[in-house]
Amino acid sequence: MKFLIILLLLGACAPKEQTGTGPGFGGKMEVSVLVDGDKIKQIKVLNHNESAYVGGKAFALLEKRIIERQSPEVDNISGASFTSFAYKMAVAEALGKAKFGEYKITVNTKDPLQSAITNGTNIMVDVLVIGGGGAGLTAAITATENGSDVVLIEKMSLLGGNTLYATGGLNAAGTIPQKAQNIDDTPQIFYDDTMKGGQNKNDPQLVKILSEEGSNTIDWLASKGIDLSKMSILGGSSKKRAHQPEGGYAVGPYLTDGLITEANKLGIDIRTDTKAINFDIQNNQINSVVVEDKNTRYSIVAKAVVIATGGFGANLDMIVSYNPKLKGFKTSNQKGATGDIFPIANKLGIQLKDMEYIQIHPTGEATRSLLITEAVRGSGGIMVNQEGQRFINELGTRDVVSAAILAQNPAKAYLIYDEQVRNNLGAVKSYEKLGLVKSGKTIAELAKAIKADPTVLQDTITKYNESVASQTDPLGRAIFGKTLTEASYYAIAVLPVIHHTMGGIAVNTNSQVLLKNNTPIKGLYAAGEVVGGIHGANRLGGNAVADITIFGRRSGERAAKFAQEN
Ligand code: FUM
Repeated sequence: MKFLIILLLLGACAPKEQTGTGPGFGGKMEVSVLVDGDKIKQIKVLNHNESAYVGGKAFALLEKRIIERQSPEVDNISGASFTSFAYKMAVAEALGKAKFGEYKITVNTKDPLQSAITNGTNIMVDVLVIGGGGAGLTAAITATENGSDVVLIEKMSLLGGNTLYATGGLNAAGTIPQKAQNIDDTPQIFYDDTMKGGQNKNDPQLVKILSEEGSNTIDWLASKGIDLSKMSILGGSSKKRAHQPEGGYAVGPYLTDGLITEANKLGIDIRTDTKAINFDIQNNQINSVVVEDKNTRYSIVAKAVVIATGGFGANLDMIVSYNPKLKGFKTSNQKGATGDIFPIANKLGIQLKDMEYIQIHPTGEATRSLLITEAVRGSGGIMVNQEGQRFINELGTRDVVSAAILAQNPAKAYLIYDEQVRNNLGAVKSYEKLGLVKSGKTIAELAKAIKADPTVLQDTITKYNESVASQTDPLGRAIFGKTLTEASYYAIAVLPVIHHTMGGIAVNTNSQVLLKNNTPIKGLYAAGEVVGGIHGANRLGGNAVADITIFGRRSGERAAKFAQEN
């Protein structure tokens, strides 16, 4: 993202504190900047809506960079580009008011703090985890709990990966929260939904683990203070099994914060801005990984390695190379989801599978890398086209719902919900702060706001409310929320976006990485979106957070065991 601000100013004056604002990921951010003569002395964030982790980490790094450089012309913090953009813009505005210098800001310049790469000292460790998203953090915590000395590396400046962006929930069946709410679900129903959603292209053994291990994982997370006991439903599920934080807030930032707290408690050695660039495999056993940070390149000699580097949903060239029809689509993925591991894996003879299965999510927001969660529909929202008509079972699988939106004229849709849905789903409040929500005190007023036909929209909602009452729907929706009758009414414009890459590294049920001839590489494991085969041709909403935590734990536990025995 590039922006240019030119401030023509009168020169430095006496010490002063000024404020500025910018549009962050979660909404408006306000900073104050203390300028003393010709020096930027201090930057404070007065108000923001970023997550605690992103805010805490990115603000400190940006303040340091800006004060070192005495200018807001610094690189974004990788993994927090919206936050960085807003922060720099707000600082620029404050500096303008303080009449500080004359400059232009161009984002994405080369990092002025980066120096030449030199050779560093190699280190030895029991388990190396590559990737600091949900799968990597979970693997690192579990390996540590199982007695290993662990190093985790993350190529971005911030931990969290795509997990930080996850909203909907964690799918699990037969859990304590489900039982407490009389939701009659079983691993077998979960298994059947997942296989059906994946068009039966999934690896059945991996799906069996996914559907059976969820309940343990919910308990394991709860034992770490990560409480996911609010229930919702996401596309393709036949039962309410998406476990969310209290208040229906986004699961990703909450989970990431909890996992990082736990990793820090365990004293795990976490190295951000550190990228794996090569693997040394000898006699079919992992020996070491060459890594590079901003200044040095060195080897981490490890008895076991877990690859948890995520998918390639932000690498549009790679996406198009596997599916040319996706040219031009936007993505919901964080910038680091570039699949750098796949060319390396290919060279090493590692088996990649299902790379052509790339999911588009029906409800992306077109102007930002932002997803409007399926939980809006799961909590009782509906979807209409520009005329104001429903056209699909909103809780169908993502491939089906996306295709239905793309078949509309124009090819877009609106999520519609009422005050009751809004009160139940904290996640929508963040969309309001971003200015993505239109509202009306009546349905006619809402129709006007989105330029739909008021009579058609009123008729659609009346008929939908009749379906809720009779629990039967001509479009086949089987799970309903409450009737949409509580004013005000809301609408968010949505478009399908690239969301999940189902393909990746082939693993066996012990999460061991497989060569092209199906032989496992000793000591090498993989977990999370980097793995192919679990989700088949189409992943169900809520199954990614299940995948990263269940297989993160499995790979961490297996890696620690291998390290102890070798
Ligand atoms: O719509 C969503 O909240 C996405 C959930 C998921 O991809 O699992």
